[in-house]
Amino acid sequence: METMSEQAVFPPSPEFSSRAHVPSLDAYRDLCRQAEQHPEEFFSALAEKELTWFKPWDHPFEWNPPFVKWFVGGTLNASYNCVDRHVEAGNGSKVALHWIGEPGDTRDITYAELHVMVSRFANMLKARGLKPGDRAIIYMPMVPEAVAAMLGCARLGVTHSVVFGGFSAEALKARIQDLEASAVITADGGWRRGKTLNLKGAVDDAIAAECPSVHTVIVLKRTENEITMTAGRDVWWHDLDATVTDDCPPEHLDAEHPLYVLYTSGTTGKPKGILHTTGGYLLHAVLTMKWVFDLKPDDIYWCSADIGWVTGHTYIVYGPLAAGATQIMYEGAPDFPAWDRWWQIAAQYKATIFYTSPTAIRALIKQGEHLPNAHDLSSLRLLGSVGEPINPAAWEWYHRVIGKGRCPIVDTWWQTETGGVLIAPMPGATPLKPGSGTLPMPGILAEVVDFEGKPVGVNQEGFLIIKRPWPSMMRTIWRDPARFEQNYFSRIPGIYFTGDAARRDEDGYFWILGRVDDVMNVSGHRLSTMEIESALVRHPAVAEAAVVGKPHEITGQAVCCFVTLKQGNWDNHKLGIELRQWIAHEIGSFARPEEIRFTEALPKTRSGKIMRRLLREIVTSHTVSGDVTTLEDLGVVTKLAAQHDED
Ligand code: PRX
Repeated sequence: METMSEQAVFPPSPEFSSRAHVPSLDAYRDLCRQAEQHPEEFFSALAEKELTWFKPWDHPFEWNPPFVKWFVGGTLNASYNCVDRHVEAGNGSKVALHWIGEPGDTRDITYAELHVMVSRFANMLKARGLKPGDRAIIYMPMVPEAVAAMLGCARLGVTHSVVFGGFSAEALKARIQDLEASAVITADGGWRRGKTLNLKGAVDDAIAAECPSVHTVIVLKRTENEITMTAGRDVWWHDLDATVTDDCPPEHLDAEHPLYVLYTSGTTGKPKGILHTTGGYLLHAVLTMKWVFDLKPDDIYWCSADIGWVTGHTYIVYGPLAAGATQIMYEGAPDFPAWDRWWQIAAQYKATIFYTSPTAIRALIKQGEHLPNAHDLSSLRLLGSVGEPINPAAWEWYHRVIGKGRCPIVDTWWQTETGGVLIAPMPGATPLKPGSGTLPMPGILAEVVDFEGKPVGVNQEGFLIIKRPWPSMMRTIWRDPARFEQNYFSRIPGIYFTGDAARRDEDGYFWILGRVDDVMNVSGHRLSTMEIESALVRHPAVAEAAVVGKPHEITGQAVCCFVTLKQGNWDNHKLGIELRQWIAHEIGSFARPEEIRFTEALPKTRSGKIMRRLLREIVTSHTVSGDVTTLEDLGVVTKLAAQHDED
């Protein structure tokens, strides 16, 4: 039941504001004014203050649409900024990571210890012949070594690409090939709901054939799973570690040096390798830690994302560590061994800031208030939400039950492409409206426009665009600049097209309405309808497939597939199970469809385009109870709708 009206407004409390980095709406507006009028001066001053550079830049900004450069000619190192400088400033004994393994093992890692881990790992890569500009894949569980691996790559100028552990061998292989990666960093396993993920097995399957670029696989021992090691190629982390020293000076890298590539789903079957570079990305990451998370030196910050997603990159690794935060990192599932695992951890470590997704909140609501209420959550002072719109009922529960009515909620809108948060409240300044990301960050010129690029009126729906480049903007799609331009800068030439629909209310607040393209949002993760369709038609029984997102109580959307079959005697029930398994194999278990619906024909326009709009309507209005044996006759409805569509 949705109980809260859209008009509800929650102004910041005076105590919160009085201590906040941005203490009032006037202070926020002042930052926006400076950034809008003099963006180069504004971001240059902040880059000088917030980051440590080896060499200053010659020009702050170069814009040849759609390609942008920030801090041109400057050099720095992301790992130096995330680790060394805190140690040099006398904060080596501060805890960087309070890590909790799912089975209950724990480690507290100080900045000084992280410095040693990162330096040694960079030396391990060097020992295996990696050099600046090479690419390494990181396919690891949520353990401190995964953070050290990312920062170790950054130290050396090796571009990393983290692949979420839930992706299959097939998906991993596609990423290795696209990047021509030289190394894969993995583990013998990772813990999830009391079971172990067979990460090394997937790596072996991925590179068994067709991945000639990989000469090194570094394997961390985590679960004692039985694995096979290929002589010459595979090496245990601990064995390699024993051969190196702690001393590894950071490379002086160009501000535009490629820091990482992270793959995300687009509107075709092929994922896009989103490229982020060093200086501008790191600046935005550290700025938003202060602006949005209001981070202070004594905070205990916790972002529940996995490092395989962009939220983990910017708000577990680069943002919090560049800002010198102490954070909590948890390896496993929120429901293991019971649904109060997160609350138990938050209470034990006295978390002050907690950042999660609406899907997680909805799943937790279902388990009941008694679970959080059994733990002392009084240390919390700020809550965050990311990945999808937060519905009023979830907002209300998060605010009342977790935040005890005291903690502001920052609803952060951003994308893999934007590198960091673009629209969100500044919690000491911005009055909150549940369900709205509120207002843009300084320097982010966001607007809602129509097809021609003209701003729409108050409360009217349109496309969300960003009119001016910002420091942490993606630089290109890996090896596909034409697709980069086509996807993001062609709808309105020279202007960044987000792919989201939105409206702005009378106070200028942004309300995100969802994707305008064929991308679904399942549990806050982006999934491409086309990618799943391409995977389905690779199955020998499938003739055609159309995939749409259907509304889902917990995950926001769920994957629903309409499938036509090739001639043959198929057992639809068995095949439904098999096709779900097939998607898990081709993409990953998190993409497994909720529903497979067999039909004799797919609704198409006369020109042969599948009418996903109609299918979306079908799945939205009729809730079929997951019966995989239904054989639908869409013939009549198709004919009618096709006529209507082409009239
Ligand atoms: O549709 C928007 C939705 O998630 C998309 C970006 O997905 P991804 O690149 O996987 O990054 C997710 C984590 C930043 C956006 O285009 N989205 C993200 N945050 C919000 C959101 N929708 C509404 N409100 C949000 N706070």
